[in-house]
Amino acid sequence: MESSKSQNIETILKENRHFDPSPSFREKAIWGDEQAFERLRAQADANPEAFWEGAAEDIHWYRRWSKVLDWNAPYAKWFVGAETNASYNCLDRHLKAGKGGKKALIWEGEDGTQVTWTYQDLYDHVCQLTNALEKDLHLKKGDTAAIYLPLTPQAIVAMLACARIGVTHSVIFAGFASHAIRDRVNDADCKVIFTTDVTYRRGQPLDLKSIVEDAVKETPGVKNVVVLRRLKTTTLGDKQLDWEKLVQPHAKTHEAPPIDTEHPLFMLYTSGTTGKPKGIVHSTGGYLVQVMRTAKWVFDLNEKDIYWCTADIGWVTGHSYIVYGMLSQAATCVIFEGALNFPHGGRIWELIDRHKVTILYTAPTAIRAFMRGGDDVPRKYSLASLRLLGSVGEPINPEAWMWYYREIGKSKCPIVDTWWQTETGGMLIAPVPGVTSLKPGSATKPFPGIRADVVNEEGKSCAPGEGGYLVLTHPWPAMLRGIHNNPERYQESYWSKYPGIYFTGDGANKDADGYFWIKGRVDDVLNVSGHRLGTMEIESALVSHPSVAEAAVVGRPDDLKGQAVVAFVILKDGTDLTATSAIRDSLKKHVVQEIGSIARPDEIFLTKSLPKTRSGKIMRRILKDLAAGKQVSGDTTTLENPGLVEIIE
Ligand code: WT7
Repeated sequence: MESSKSQNIETILKENRHFDPSPSFREKAIWGDEQAFERLRAQADANPEAFWEGAAEDIHWYRRWSKVLDWNAPYAKWFVGAETNASYNCLDRHLKAGKGGKKALIWEGEDGTQVTWTYQDLYDHVCQLTNALEKDLHLKKGDTAAIYLPLTPQAIVAMLACARIGVTHSVIFAGFASHAIRDRVNDADCKVIFTTDVTYRRGQPLDLKSIVEDAVKETPGVKNVVVLRRLKTTTLGDKQLDWEKLVQPHAKTHEAPPIDTEHPLFMLYTSGTTGKPKGIVHSTGGYLVQVMRTAKWVFDLNEKDIYWCTADIGWVTGHSYIVYGMLSQAATCVIFEGALNFPHGGRIWELIDRHKVTILYTAPTAIRAFMRGGDDVPRKYSLASLRLLGSVGEPINPEAWMWYYREIGKSKCPIVDTWWQTETGGMLIAPVPGVTSLKPGSATKPFPGIRADVVNEEGKSCAPGEGGYLVLTHPWPAMLRGIHNNPERYQESYWSKYPGIYFTGDGANKDADGYFWIKGRVDDVLNVSGHRLGTMEIESALVSHPSVAEAAVVGRPDDLKGQAVVAFVILKDGTDLTATSAIRDSLKKHVVQEIGSIARPDEIFLTKSLPKTRSGKIMRRILKDLAAGKQVSGDTTTLENPGLVEIIE
């Protein structure tokens, strides 16, 4: 962390702008009284359990808890002994409150097709599928199902149908390749996979079903593949069931059973520092309470809002802030199955105007890309419906923040920069827009009831401005309950650096006002376009190529993507080196095939050696410098082969 210290201090000195909530925003906001909010924050800080217990009143419980928190580090149980149902909370509750006619989902396809579903429609679809899962597929509480679908209403139906009967879902991003599906499905022991015959990427059809067919050759536990047929011509093979035919005979009602609050609602795989993705397990009740409360206050959500989160349901953002956090509050959500800049650079702004979006939640990588496209593009649109902007996935640089604020928010929309992780389930550090003064580039302060700190190597709190590790010093309701099938890794990844304290893996500093400035990962994990990729995972993919002997992957700062993927590869002896560009292409293709296009290396260096310590660890610091085109800095005395990296080309 030494080297980032001076950088952090510099950032603070440079960035001293702040933006107070405007009187007009404050007036209408859920929280507009700063003093009252600070009193609440102090109370919540003194007694987080009491705060979350209050928040729990927002959801329906079949049975109440005997105790708010049972903390046996590193395992937490929240709302001990209580029963609820996530699907009931997202559907039945609203119908009972007379909101069946309210719009739940406004879906737009890449070709411009639009479908709007009310809460009643969504309920009908979910109940029909749930009945089919119970009666025809014989799924029951404790089973797991994989969802490999693009961002469609049906993907959400599948999630809520599983949740309704305690079938733990594992959504697999529809950009992952068949090997990635196979590994995730086997690790989670899924009995069923939901998929579709076609989605479109920049106008090109992509057949997800055939990718699943490849995967299921090696997933012995899968009994059925439920296929959403969008093309009349698609024929179905072995184990495959037509979604429409499956649900058609079933009733559009279903009584949601009480589910233990600690029952795993879903699993979601994310990258870590070792090769295999981790199946992050989330609970039901605690998760729901936190995503609901944070969505309500951070997005200042009201009855009339039209909310658009541009994330896919394949990532945690889609789970928490499209499905569970928003539908549980009867919000109207826009969902879009397409690229934000296709077929033209203003597609995102066109959607905002068409659907009168009031809250936009997107990623810095997208903001930077639009910024690059020039101010003229968004200026062709009104964007007058917007009242609040959000950012998530990686640090937002002050320049992008200012552009977003000025060009998109027209200097009247607060920006909520929200820090959280797949593991945290919900937001932890984020502004509450009617009361928090904003500083461009800072996620501001911990949400009430959350205890976070920045500590040094020894675990001592850092002084203001001093760089250190971001940690969480008290459990929170939506925290992960473990890594599926791997308690050792759970302990090791998050709880071993400082006993009883959650290690986030992010570097940060806190300024004199208590604002957090999060700098990104300090471990061997890359953040590419707001998505976490394990360097080990990409290295394993490279090494599985027949010509590769050894590989090391590092990140390089990238204006657009946050980080670019750079690989250093030692080829096997005897590889024909006359066509190095063909080798590079083949390596890139191989990674895409093994993991998916998000992991495609941006640059590959072919080398004869890798810098290693005497104990054989690759010195990534050196590779990072090389990848960034910098002079290798710092101490190299522990280097085993000081000749450094001999780049062939
Ligand atoms: C990592 C988590 C949170 C859902 C999407 C990504 C980085 C995320 C911010 C932010 C600075 C951020 C961190 C974090 N990150 N949000 N507002 N400011 N960094 O989830 O894939 O689990 O990645 O994304 O490095 O640890 P994820």
